[in-house]
Amino acid sequence: MKVKVKVPATSANLGPGFDVAGLAVTLYNTFVFELIENGLEIIGCPEQFCNEENMTYQAFVEGAKACGLDFKGLRIECSGDVPYTRGLGSSSTCIVAGIVGAYAFQDRYNDRQEILELATKIEGHPDNVAPAIFGGLTVSVMETDHVTTLNIPVKHDYRFVAFIPPFTLSTEKSRSVLPQILPRSDAIKNVSHLALMVASLINGYDEGLKLGFKDRLHQPYRGDLIQGFKEIMEVLENDKKVLGAYLSGAGPTIMALIKAEDTKGVVRLKEELGSLIDEWQVEKLELDMRGYTCDYE
Ligand code: HSE
Repeated sequence: MKVKVKVPATSANLGPGFDVAGLAVTLYNTFVFELIENGLEIIGCPEQFCNEENMTYQAFVEGAKACGLDFKGLRIECSGDVPYTRGLGSSSTCIVAGIVGAYAFQDRYNDRQEILELATKIEGHPDNVAPAIFGGLTVSVMETDHVTTLNIPVKHDYRFVAFIPPFTLSTEKSRSVLPQILPRSDAIKNVSHLALMVASLINGYDEGLKLGFKDRLHQPYRGDLIQGFKEIMEVLENDKKVLGAYLSGAGPTIMALIKAEDTKGVVRLKEELGSLIDEWQVEKLELDMRGYTCDYE
């Protein structure tokens, strides 16, 4: 028997919701697990990840411990379209898939809350793993041994335009430039922007989004690590049909929100951005509403 787990890419923070808010999008990684007599076989990913340090394997081991699965050997086949180290939750797809894979061999792949808590423990924050597990747009609160996640019902039909640079930025490096202490005025701005963004999405108040996506906690510090960040954000800010823009997760991908009916949005934005996004990949994505799926083969 094989277990196939498909996990959506995710875009975290949504501007002011650092380590709190995230959304799942229609871009996926797929992992097929098979228990074998002994050893570890990993195929479909770069050679340097085909060993016991592999994140999916390590999550599988943790998942197996948590759900009481005894296994001698494992084969993992990976494939998918989520770019690596670009701020679209590729590591969360590995962590979630590994845990779900182990739980699936115990017929427990749908124990989503338990899977969330273990995935958060491994990742360190819940904002990517939560939407990868539940789908949609989520907000999460992490306590010592419990994670509370809620889905935000988004009223309008939006598209998410991901501007994905040709270069990578590790989460570790991107977190290392953040200050430990914020001025109170910046903290108040972030709390108010997050509240405005969430309320605007629920109520379909599109006019509130551009301000609601603004951030003072991480983007001003991370922007310097991303070539062209300020200029690109300025172009997006000045486009009247862009409802909001933010740094996706730890970056370097930049995400812009447009309405579904703005069908020429991607072409228009590519023209406006011109050489600023030379060799960048541009993907028009929708919200994934399911989170991971799991099938037996
Ligand atoms: N909230 C995380 C960060 C997401 O911005 O560092 C990336 O792992």
